[in-house]
Amino acid sequence: MTTFSDLIQKARELVKRDALESGARDDGLSLDAGGNGASAYADAVAVYLAFALSRLADYNSSIATWKPSGEQVMQTYKRQALPMTWDFPESNVMGESAICWKNCVKYTADNLLATAGQQPIVVAGHALQADASQQSTSIGKVVSTDPPYYDNIGYADLSDFFYAWLRRSLKPVFPNLFATLAVPKAEELVALAYRHGGNAQAETFFMDGMTQAMHRLGEQAHPAFPVTIYYAFKQAETEGIDGTASTGWDTFLDAVIRAGFAISGTWPMRTELTNKVTGLNANMLASSIVLVCRQRAANTANATRRELVSALKAELPAGLAHLQRGNIAPVDLAQAAIGPGMAVYTRYAKVLDAGGKALSVRDALALINQTLDEALAEQEGDFDADSRWALAWFEQSGFSEGEYGTAETLSKAKNTSVSGMVQAGILTSKGRKVRLLRPGELPADWDPKTDPRLTAWESVHHLIRALETGGENAAAELVSKLGSKSEIARELAYRLYTLCERNKRAPEALSYNGLVQSWPEITRLARVTAPIPQAQLFSQE
Ligand SMILES: C[S@@+](CC[C@H](N)C(=O)[O-])C[C@H]1O[C@@H](n2cnc3c(N)ncnc32)[C@H](O)[C@@H]1O
Repeated sequence: MTTFSDLIQKARELVKRDALESGARDDGLSLDAGGNGASAYADAVAVYLAFALSRLADYNSSIATWKPSGEQVMQTYKRQALPMTWDFPESNVMGESAICWKNCVKYTADNLLATAGQQPIVVAGHALQADASQQSTSIGKVVSTDPPYYDNIGYADLSDFFYAWLRRSLKPVFPNLFATLAVPKAEELVALAYRHGGNAQAETFFMDGMTQAMHRLGEQAHPAFPVTIYYAFKQAETEGIDGTASTGWDTFLDAVIRAGFAISGTWPMRTELTNKVTGLNANMLASSIVLVCRQRAANTANATRRELVSALKAELPAGLAHLQRGNIAPVDLAQAAIGPGMAVYTRYAKVLDAGGKALSVRDALALINQTLDEALAEQEGDFDADSRWALAWFEQSGFSEGEYGTAETLSKAKNTSVSGMVQAGILTSKGRKVRLLRPGELPADWDPKTDPRLTAWESVHHLIRALETGGENAAAELVSKLGSKSEIARELAYRLYTLCERNKRAPEALSYNGLVQSWPEITRLARVTAPIPQAQLFSQE
């Protein structure tokens, strides 16, 4: 590592000499000083070589591991932590192994080419390092930011691993950036208890610093554009609808609101590689939420808790319907609905409870989730009686067997009958037991056009059967037969997803989410393959 590191400086000198010898001009300015000639070019090459060295370090520490199944060396940072390992491999960095120096350079170069789209970059980017709570760039920027997530990652500590080698290789190129022996830690906006002397102090530090940073961003943002803030999505936080309120998330929202922003949207975004997502987590699609914020008007009034609840009840159902029309994945619905909910909450200067105490963000999130749940339940009114029965049954028993008597009692409440639903083809009833049919048990030759008792429940599960066995084309065939009735099936899939998520029925949740996600393609195929009605222009009738 020390040899490679020393050679980066040597390479820098040689690159500059070569560039000058081949006729490049030199403005004498370094890369750091905004140069554009041979000196800056040599600096840039040194930076890229230092990236390759970082890669080499990642695969050649005593924390790197051996993966027997792939017969390969695995990197130090498989996740954002430095775990203890029992043993480590050493690869031949001079040879032709996957981790050799030549490959480290190649992968870095491949990345650069991919980033540049194989074209020379014509628009110069500009990077500047500054503390977000102190920085002052010129006013009128379009701001899109990805701040630290509470205590999730100790960036500065983890960066020291690479910093030591980067500093050794690049200090002459960026003397200011590498002025300190280790990565600066004090300003880092991360709620680390060990750094701040306890959890409470860490939370206060994070809250104050983040509020200040957001405040500065707000001041400098162009008023015509919203400020968008990426927020890392922690999976544990979305377990169940109420689970959305957790320390990191509501502390962060609070800081954003305190900084004078109103939140008008929450967009779920896939920002992480999907290959890390396995098993149950495959259900968790969004990996970040983008908060869409604007400066809050100065003259906002206070509201009571009751006013907030009625405004949420009046506005959230429309917001929810809007998200569903946009085909938001069911797995992302609860997070996305926070946006319209927060838009209501942040419309007021403060929301006061009966005792005159301001309602916290955490309380507001709970109210938003409750209203969302009610709005989803209200959509049940759109379904036929059999499907409403099946929903209630499914919530209790899923696809498992239950008592006939219970099923019969429930059927009275929902204005249907067990025998009718057996006929409808959604239920099996044997002895004193009943259970809902799984998609795989449904007849493959089902035709909605000839079904005398067509239900939304049946439609959803036949669509899932078709999708999972015959792909989008098979599902599209059913959609074209269902015609306008297919929309209600999609609505039911949303509802079913929510129930599965709450009751931890992960495999079924995946199917419902999958159906909605494939919906745009299924309906497109259904339109393409639908028989074109014959022109009636010259018919005798
Ligand atoms: C979620 S990460 C951003 C990751 C980035 N979007 C990427 O893809 O590489 C948050 C970043 O904020 C930086 N950060 C922490 N405290 C900061 C502060 N006070 N000012 C500016 N940046 C800070 C961290 O070092 C970290 O790189």
